[in-house]
Amino acid sequence: MMSAKVYPAQSFEFKSDAIAPDKSISHRCAMFSVLAEGESRIENFLRAEDTLNTLKIVGHLGADITDDGTTITIRSHGIQESSEILDCGNSGTGMRLFCGLLSSAEGHFVLTGDEYLKRRPMKRVSGPLRSIGAKLDGRNNGDLAPLSIRGASLKSFDYTSPVASAQVKSAMMLAALRSDGVCTFREPELSRDHTERMLRGMGARVEINGLETKIWPLEKPLKPLDIRVPADPSSAFFFAVAAAITPNAFAVIEGVTLNPTRIEAFKVLEKMGAKITYTLTDERYEPIGTIRVEYAPLQAVSVEENIAWLIDELPALSIAMACAEGKSIIKNAEELRVKESDRIKTVVDNLNLCGIKTEEYPDGYAVIGGELKSAIVNSYGDHRIAMSFLIAGLKCGMEVHDIECINTSFPNFFELLGSCTKVER
Ligand code: S3P
Repeated sequence: MMSAKVYPAQSFEFKSDAIAPDKSISHRCAMFSVLAEGESRIENFLRAEDTLNTLKIVGHLGADITDDGTTITIRSHGIQESSEILDCGNSGTGMRLFCGLLSSAEGHFVLTGDEYLKRRPMKRVSGPLRSIGAKLDGRNNGDLAPLSIRGASLKSFDYTSPVASAQVKSAMMLAALRSDGVCTFREPELSRDHTERMLRGMGARVEINGLETKIWPLEKPLKPLDIRVPADPSSAFFFAVAAAITPNAFAVIEGVTLNPTRIEAFKVLEKMGAKITYTLTDERYEPIGTIRVEYAPLQAVSVEENIAWLIDELPALSIAMACAEGKSIIKNAEELRVKESDRIKTVVDNLNLCGIKTEEYPDGYAVIGGELKSAIVNSYGDHRIAMSFLIAGLKCGMEVHDIECINTSFPNFFELLGSCTKVER
């Protein structure tokens, strides 16, 4: 098991166009190419464990993939049965979206993942997919991987999801594309909308009306993708927090998606007092631009709305809360319990080890701002817990154990962190 030690930072100026490419968009690029006719071209695909697993699975499903180091091309021959077990590794997005994609494909498929993914709930997709005719099963009556899928013809649906989850929405949208009629999907709060944007860009008929999305079955294959994946705001956010907690520091992140369903955590950090500007520079499938974050003393904040828009950033935001004046509260975030770790527990336990007082609730927690103290903490195999506490180390020094998981989403994290402070591995 690898560990890393971070030393307190002096003020720094961080400027980068090399933040890891967006994970959600990279997964979708690989998967959606399978439904296209012709060659999809993907520049700046995230070369991290999660998304490379998805790309490998797309290869197992019969697509031709080339990679010249800059651009990945994918040419599909329709979805073909595979003799391989399809291993999604640590990725919930991979597994849940493949459930939607494969439920209507001809053949038999087996999806599995690592020890963490095998503990995460899949009923949220297997339930609604089964109700429209999917033949999908797994341990615990279809809730736990390994999952097996026997492709079947799917009925159109009108489904209201109990969770605001882009993974559930995307799985159902992929199923809808190959169902027998117009489908309606509703969610309690808008979740990230990359699937809607990308499928529309590829020629699918998708209509969005508030929390309701209508999807029409494909009459012909999708148009191939031609995309440069923007930087991942969830990865960028670690450096936003780094700047926000280090006196006189700033961070400039270039080429990042400014999709409103993804940058809510920056808005909360701004509300806490950090100086943040957003500059739009490009628009392709998504708005893309530069985010600049500058240190300022932080005040406590209450986060109870638009949770789906910042769910992945809450661990890093909690570090900013620990450095803020007053008591910050996170509510309505029970989804944190079923991420790569139970992030309510792992954040609270680790903050306590760093001398920060917390209160744990079933659906969130409170962080009472104070003096972060150097500690030895564990990532619990969760990449975002590992990176959040390494960032906390900029304030007070920190040793984080079990850091291999960072490779699931942000392989060059340490290289970039090294430009802010001293790091030992
Ligand atoms: C993702 C959706 C979110 C997010 C995950 C990526 C996606 O999960 O936490 O990291 O790419 O669709 P949920 O949809 O389960 O909320």
